Amino acid sequence: MSQEIKSVEYGLEKIFEGAQDFLPLMGTDYVEFYVGNAKQAAHFYKTAFGFQSLAYAGLETGVKDKASYVLKQDKIRLVLTTALNSDSPIGEHVKKHGDGVKVIALWVEDARQSYEETTKRGAKSYFEPVVEKDENGEVVRAGIYGAYGETVFIFVERKNYNGIFLPGYSEWKSDYNPTPVGLKYIDHMVGNTGWNRMNEAVKWFEDVMGFVNFLSFDDKQITTEYSALMSKVMSNGNGRIKFPINEPAEGKKRSQIEEYLDFYEGEGVQHIAVATDDILKTVAEMRARGIEFLSTPPQAYYDAIPERLKDHMSKFKEDINELQKLGIMIDADEEGYLLQIFTKPVEDRPTLFFEIIQRMGARGFGAGNFKALFESIEREQELRGTL
Ligand code: FE2
Repeated sequence: MSQEIKSVEYGLEKIFEGAQDFLPLMGTDYVEFYVGNAKQAAHFYKTAFGFQSLAYAGLETGVKDKASYVLKQDKIRLVLTTALNSDSPIGEHVKKHGDGVKVIALWVEDARQSYEETTKRGAKSYFEPVVEKDENGEVVRAGIYGAYGETVFIFVERKNYNGIFLPGYSEWKSDYNPTPVGLKYIDHMVGNTGWNRMNEAVKWFEDVMGFVNFLSFDDKQITTEYSALMSKVMSNGNGRIKFPINEPAEGKKRSQIEEYLDFYEGEGVQHIAVATDDILKTVAEMRARGIEFLSTPPQAYYDAIPERLKDHMSKFKEDINELQKLGIMIDADEEGYLLQIFTKPVEDRPTLFFEIIQRMGARGFGAGNFKALFESIEREQELRGTL
């Protein structure tokens, strides 16, 4: 496979050659979903994904038009927001797309500068820099529209803030606190774009955000008997933030990307990959709590592993039989290996799903698993009558 990673060691971080440094990103600050019923969604993410109650804003805190629940697990923060009346852009978003990701918030040193540099390079403004204050200090935030659909980026500068989340939020104390399942941080977030739109989105990430395209997969690599897609992975300079971008490709039947675009009624976030350092434990726990994963790859997939990954077998710490029992897939490259599994969509519309990933050195995305993965997705599409 033709994947070339150009990087040089720079301290502990990998700086990708060609990436711009006008937008230093320190990490994903939070991901905000617009949902139909945030109270119930929060219960789901606590129970099944092991998120912890962190903060809340709504009627009880003086917010009249929306309610937001903030959940945390290690470095991951999710915000679940719902409208409190029919005259709300949040409600409009949910009406069109169903539950989905609206905001990808990026943690920056200087939100004003991030806004200036990106809008100067062509980003469309979502909102100008605002300073939000309370007794715990101040936060500066600014927003731009993203590369696809109605998904936006918000820059968050919180160096002068020591409150629980953001000004306007109260601590959310709950008597119901299921234990975490071992999710650590967001590894990558994938966007689906429309026909022939991937390269436009790639160019947006290059021009506006200074990202580099560090991996590409064409429709010959990502194909099954029935359907195909193309994908390019964009990364920021320090490699911490990665946004793969998909577009559908022609196949005998309907691509999973087309199914997403039809049901989301547009482009948007397809999946969020979250990292764990013990995938066997994490997945066993999530299964016990009711999370449904894509069907386990067939016996032939596991039988083929010793031959497909023969140069890497000695590195594997996990027993292949244990992986198979939980439906976990494995792939490897020169740098190491990775373990991964995908949930079914977490809404009734077949749109957003989650990936659980454990990296054991490998920096790829499991290209060796694409065929098995997409065949599993096609089995689900067949059941939905959307293949
Ligand atoms: Fe992924």
